[in-house]
Amino acid sequence: MADFKTIDEFAPEGKRVLVRVDFNVPMQDGEVTDSTRIERAAVTLKELMAKGGRVIALSHFGRPKGKAEPAMSLAPIAKALGKALGGKDVVFGEDCIGPKAEAAVGKVGNGGIALLENLRFHAGEEKNNPDFADALAALGDVYVNDAFSSSHRAHASVTGLAERLPAYAGRLMEAELKALGAAVGGADRPVAALVGGAKVSTKLDVLGHLLDKVDLLIIGGGMANTFLHAQGVDVGKSLCEKDLADNARAILDKAKAKNVRIILPEDGVVATRFEQDAENRVVEIGAVGAEEMILDIGPKSIATINEALAGCKTLLWNGPMGAFEVAPFNKGTNAVAQAAAKLTQEGRLQSVAGGGDTVAALAHAGVLEQFSYVSTAGGAFLEFIEGKKLPGVAALAG
Ligand code: 3PG
Ligand code: MG
Repeated sequence: MADFKTIDEFAPEGKRVLVRVDFNVPMQDGEVTDSTRIERAAVTLKELMAKGGRVIALSHFGRPKGKAEPAMSLAPIAKALGKALGGKDVVFGEDCIGPKAEAAVGKVGNGGIALLENLRFHAGEEKNNPDFADALAALGDVYVNDAFSSSHRAHASVTGLAERLPAYAGRLMEAELKALGAAVGGADRPVAALVGGAKVSTKLDVLGHLLDKVDLLIIGGGMANTFLHAQGVDVGKSLCEKDLADNARAILDKAKAKNVRIILPEDGVVATRFEQDAENRVVEIGAVGAEEMILDIGPKSIATINEALAGCKTLLWNGPMGAFEVAPFNKGTNAVAQAAAKLTQEGRLQSVAGGGDTVAALAHAGVLEQFSYVSTAGGAFLEFIEGKKLPGVAALAG
């Protein structure tokens, strides 16, 4: 593991502790629908509070692009945080820098906590602007990074603060690095990566790099359609990034050259509408109707994937196999998740999963607790397993 300091190495009592957390959580109608990230970071926050620290939590939410967007305010999250802290009062600061932030920090006594407004309401956050980072740093005495899931971003609150204040890794950061480091570094072979989800363009490069690390690459979800299309398969109206066909073919060629097995769907569940309980049918890949969308993997694909997993020792999973939010298109994801969970429980598989959708899908499938480790990170998880240095983690070691 990197040579960073942890929160064991300073005395929080009386200090203003700026803690970068990742409260970029799923929300619907102003309510947090999955508080996993909040609960996991609460461990660090509670510990710092119990030791008498004056805790100031900083986070981004969504991508407001440098402007205050009321719909992306962290105010509703302050409530969820209070709950995760066992009913503590959370002071909410209506800005993350300047007089409003200072006023909020001023209200926090030893053992208390404030949450400041969305960092990304200021363009300086994503640009890692020095003045913005200085303004953040002025609010605290020490800095703790507990946002592993944001640490692939060289933003002011991630790297800028670590350069300006004594910097420490929070408990969640420590746990993520330890678990993922073990899963990647000392992974028992064969290693399988299972990558799905809809964000094809952001994950394609990652797939290419993963081929250097794994023995088997299983591609599902919307991502698979781009590969099927690249192989000349008609995917009808399915989600598909046709302009990435060349990239997809390059990945398939690289896999062949490296002797990495690729599994793509053989069959799919298709429908003409993406709705709960929409009329659907199972078809072989190649027989998708012009008006149909592939919304899940079919039974043959499930069987092939599960059989392949039974021969693996390590599984790294990011992204669902289908449109799991809407039944019955959750069947493929659930079936593979349950098979991986069973192998894990039998001691035959080390299973590590990451990503907001993936965690939600595993929770839906009822197997969240049965995986070896579930990361709170999505993009950062993928970059970590492909072997990239995350700027936020590097800054802690600096
Ligand atoms: C995430 O949800 O993956 C992290 O919070 C990072 O968000 P971002 O992709 O908008 O930087
Ligand atoms: Mg993301």
